Formats: sequence, structure tokens, C-alpha cells
Amino acid sequence: MNVITCRHYEELSEKAAEMIAETVKQKPDAVLGLATGGTPEGVYKELVRMHRSEGLSFRDVTTINLDEYAGLSPEDKNSYHYYMNTHFFAHIDSKKDRHFLPDGRADDLEAECERYDRLIQTLGGADIQLLGIGHNGHIGFNEPGTPFESRTHVVELNEETRRANARYFPSIDQVPEKAVTMGIRTILSGKRILIMASGKSKAQAVKQLLDGRVSEAFPASALHEHPDVTVLIDEEAAGGD
Ligand code: F6R
Repeated sequence: MNVITCRHYEELSEKAAEMIAETVKQKPDAVLGLATGGTPEGVYKELVRMHRSEGLSFRDVTTINLDEYAGLSPEDKNSYHYYMNTHFFAHIDSKKDRHFLPDGRADDLEAECERYDRLIQTLGGADIQLLGIGHNGHIGFNEPGTPFESRTHVVELNEETRRANARYFPSIDQVPEKAVTMGIRTILSGKRILIMASGKSKAQAVKQLLDGRVSEAFPASALHEHPDVTVLIDEEAAGGD
């Protein structure tokens, strides 16, 4: 694991955006594995800036997102479809039909998981997969105990994750109870992985990730089985003041 400690969130966002931009410059039809949540917002902002003022083009890229809530339509403000559109897709020149997220409204969610995973396999996995990390070490919506062999699957969201995500909803009761997420094996099919953490509240999870113990009780530790992982953290997440 290659660990890069940045001074603060802005520097971390710029560094992550640079790595994604390099991937796109080297391979204009790259497959970008994308994440939602608070941590990557600065990365999308910086990529949009690079698109507007440096001519970085996403014309030929394909994007695959980690996860989506069950039951939310793309127009729902809390869906990850909506997040991706507002933070990123609406501001760049990528093609709409090359943006892929799981369909949380599918009647048959199990069939949707199979379809989504097959699609990712057909694409050959992400060229670069962006990840955030949960306080309990979750990646995507893979909570502690998820088998490392898991492919895209339906998850019941635990209380801790629903509480952490409630900040985006009018009340915790409205946080969906289920989601579709890439499995750990699916995430590891990315050729290169970039996991980011910012702020004091992530310091414990970062410490656990970096201590090197591999266990299904801490999902992010599966990344030790991957040959090309960059851990991008700011000083607070690194445990500094
Ligand atoms: C997002 C995702 C989650 C988040 C994680 C951290 O698509 O799958 O695993 O990356 O919950 O979220 P933030 O960045 O909001 O702290």
C-alpha cells in the first residue's frame, strides 16, 4: 500500500483528482470506478475545474459507481444517481449512456446485482477505483462480516451506517434499509485503487487499515490483497492534530 499524507482536505482532493486525470489522459476511454459521500465531493469539484479550465475531457470514459440505495429513483435528491449528476456528470462532457450505477428501483434486485456485476466484468473492471471508508471500515456498502469473495449484492444497512447517512435525509426513518453494492471481489477487480479518508473521525479506521491485519471484520483490510492501492489521507485522518 502506498500511503500519501496531505496537509488538508483541499490538497487531498487535488491529489486524487490528479491521479484520476492522469488515468484519463493516458487512456481516454478509461473505466472510472466512482464513489459518493462527503469525501469525494472535493475530487469532483477539482475534476470539473480541470475540465473547464484545463480542457480535461471525459468524452470517451465509462463510469461505474459503487452503490445505490434500494427504492430511490434517479430523480430522488438522496439517490446516488442524483449525487453523481449534480456533483459531476452535469458539469463534464462524458456521455450519459456511459454512466453506470446499480438500479435501486429494479423489481428483482438480485437479478439487478447479477446484471451489474456482469457489466463490470465485461468492461474489464475499473482502471481506477475511488473509495471512501466508513468508520467501521466499510467500503461501498460492504459492512463488517461481508465475505471477501462477494460480488455485487443486496445489503441490509446496519444502524451505524444508516445513522451516518441520515445527515443527507430529512430524518433517519427515511434512510432506506437496503442498498445494492459492488461486492469486495468486484471492488478488487479494479486495476488500481484509490482510497481516501479525511478528518479526525476517520483516524481510527485509517489506523486499523494501515496496521495490516486482514480480516472480514474490517472490510477495507481486503485491500491488502490488491497489488496497487494508494491510501490518500489528510493529517487529521493520519492521527495528527
Ligand atoms: C459511497 C460509499 C461509502 C462511503 C463511506 C464514507 O459510495 O460507498 O462506502 O465511501 O461511507 O462516506 P463519507 O465520504 O461520507 O465519509
